[in-house]
Amino acid sequence: MFKALVLEKEPEFRASVREVDEGFLPEGDVTVAVEYSTLNYKDGLAITNKSPVVRSWPMVAGIDGSGTVLESSAPQWKAGDAVVLNGFGVGETHKGCLAARARLKSQWLVRRPQAFSARQAMAIGTAGYTAMLCVLALERHGLKAGEGEVLVTGATGGVGSVAVALLAKLGHKVVAATGKPAEADYLKTLGATAIIDRGELSAPGKPLQKERWAAVVDAVGSHTLANACAQTRYGGAVAACGLAQGMDFPATVAPFILRGIALLGVDSVMAPMARREEAWSRLARDLDPKLLETMTTEVGLADAVGAAQRLMAGEVRGRIVVRTS
Ligand SMILES: NC(=O)c1ccc[n+]([C@@H]2O[C@H](COP(=O)([O-])OP(=O)(O)OC[C@H]3O[C@@H](n4cnc5c(N)ncnc54)[C@H](OP(=O)(O)O)[C@@H]3O)[C@@H](O)[C@H]2O)c1
Repeated sequence: MFKALVLEKEPEFRASVREVDEGFLPEGDVTVAVEYSTLNYKDGLAITNKSPVVRSWPMVAGIDGSGTVLESSAPQWKAGDAVVLNGFGVGETHKGCLAARARLKSQWLVRRPQAFSARQAMAIGTAGYTAMLCVLALERHGLKAGEGEVLVTGATGGVGSVAVALLAKLGHKVVAATGKPAEADYLKTLGATAIIDRGELSAPGKPLQKERWAAVVDAVGSHTLANACAQTRYGGAVAACGLAQGMDFPATVAPFILRGIALLGVDSVMAPMARREEAWSRLARDLDPKLLETMTTEVGLADAVGAAQRLMAGEVRGRIVVRTS
């Protein structure tokens, strides 16, 4: 028997930590002893039932996990291997990693970089790996240090915190947009050179505005993304990965057809394995473990539901890791 955070739909929605056995696990060719999981925005939506993230019931929550392989019938994995799982519908359609055990598909697993413990890998989690995917997308577009200010929205959140730390380490001048002015010192510790109030970006704005950003990492969507595009400098790029303000995109084509800016969509869930491995190896190189610890709060499985509620209420800074064993 082991503990799992189980989401049930009938007779009414319920999220609770239960003792389950191996028979509760889904099909898969690798069984993992999960040491740590985490709470991303999507986990918050699933655990509070705020959005229809879960599409198979009952579900074990947890879109991310890290631990060691217990059993594998796949040749590429053997007992004792340290692994990381991000996305692929885990915690949505396939039982997830907010549990001491998970049964997963071998082709979904990434070898955990030696630089990271299971806890550190989950302090990064999907949020941090997505921040790295955003930085990689901007670099592929041609962004280089010294080209000007880079804006990060939702800056005290999981994606935002890791994006600020990564971009600053890579030599960029990072401007952090936040709704939490009291966290200015935190954002400066991560490497932000300036802080702006997210209210400057969140209301409807003009199609073209004063050019400011060499590039943007946006975790917020809606008017914030539209204004970020309208303020991006000629030829710059915006990596869009989130919807914390909203899923809408109330923009015009002006920044694209008059300033040649690029809007780069970033998806972590179905990202191909080569891109995942590139992101994890760059995180091992470019993310300062001391700053990662600054971003991280730890809770046990029993406290994960309360922590998910705080995340959805916008009361959390940085990343929450969940000890599953
Ligand atoms: N594309 C992908 O594959 C992918 C992967 C991971 C995450 N995401 C998305 O990225 C977003 C961020 O995820 P996360 O894990 O970093 O979540 P998070 O830790 O909850 O951070 C979200 C941050 O957004 C800001 N925010 C919240 N409500 C807002 C509002 N109404 N208007 C403007 N800003 C608001 C807050 O930062 P401040 O208080 O500092 O403003 C908050 O901390 C989510 O929408 C998530 O679904 C997408």
